[in-house]
Amino acid sequence: MNDAPFTVAIDGPAAAGKGTIGRALAAHFGFAHLDTGLLYRATGARMMAGESAVAAARGLRAEDLDRTDLRTAEIGQAASQAAALPDVRAALLQFQRDFARRPAGAVLDGRDIGTVICPQAEVKLFVTASDDVRAARRFLELSPGNPGLTLEAVRADLLARDARDANRDDAPMRAAADAMVLDTTDLGIDAAVAEAVEAVRHRLERSA
Ligand code: DC
Repeated sequence: MNDAPFTVAIDGPAAAGKGTIGRALAAHFGFAHLDTGLLYRATGARMMAGESAVAAARGLRAEDLDRTDLRTAEIGQAASQAAALPDVRAALLQFQRDFARRPAGAVLDGRDIGTVICPQAEVKLFVTASDDVRAARRFLELSPGNPGLTLEAVRADLLARDARDANRDDAPMRAAADAMVLDTTDLGIDAAVAEAVEAVRHRLERSA
């Protein structure tokens, strides 16, 4: 493979399988992978510690992304609130664009990658699944460390976050017009990964 920039943009609602598909594509093709949700989660975590959201986003450091508690529901909600602020999104934009065009390819997953961050991405995927399936997957992921957690609470948390992310004015979550939609409800993650690999392979062959 040559070293021309090649970007795979993956968007979709929470717990639809974006991260799993993104990591699998990166491993398969040797691309770098950025879970852009972590940038917003790290911003949300700093905000919960007392900083303004904008100062948190502007002051973000690499070590903020290494915190082990970034996946919690509380930090997810704080991330979603911070993500609705245009100045927060502006502070995080250039880092994501630079990552997307690094040599030898990149996969970014988030909410606005194919629409705002990389509208020129070579491959755009919109990964989705039913509310019930997404809630069940996230519950399985979070429940080992959280004995009191209920499926209903996880479901309500996901739906509240999706509604905020899809209805904000700046860079709302939506599929780009030219995105391939992967619904993992019945397909399952392995089959979705296989479809995504095929889509990327096909596009790489065209640009070879
Ligand atoms: O992908 P995630 O669930 O870890 O993301 C956490 C929050 O960050 C999500 O609710 C919305 C926000 N986000 C965003 O607005 N844009 C992105 N590209 C990625 C995440």
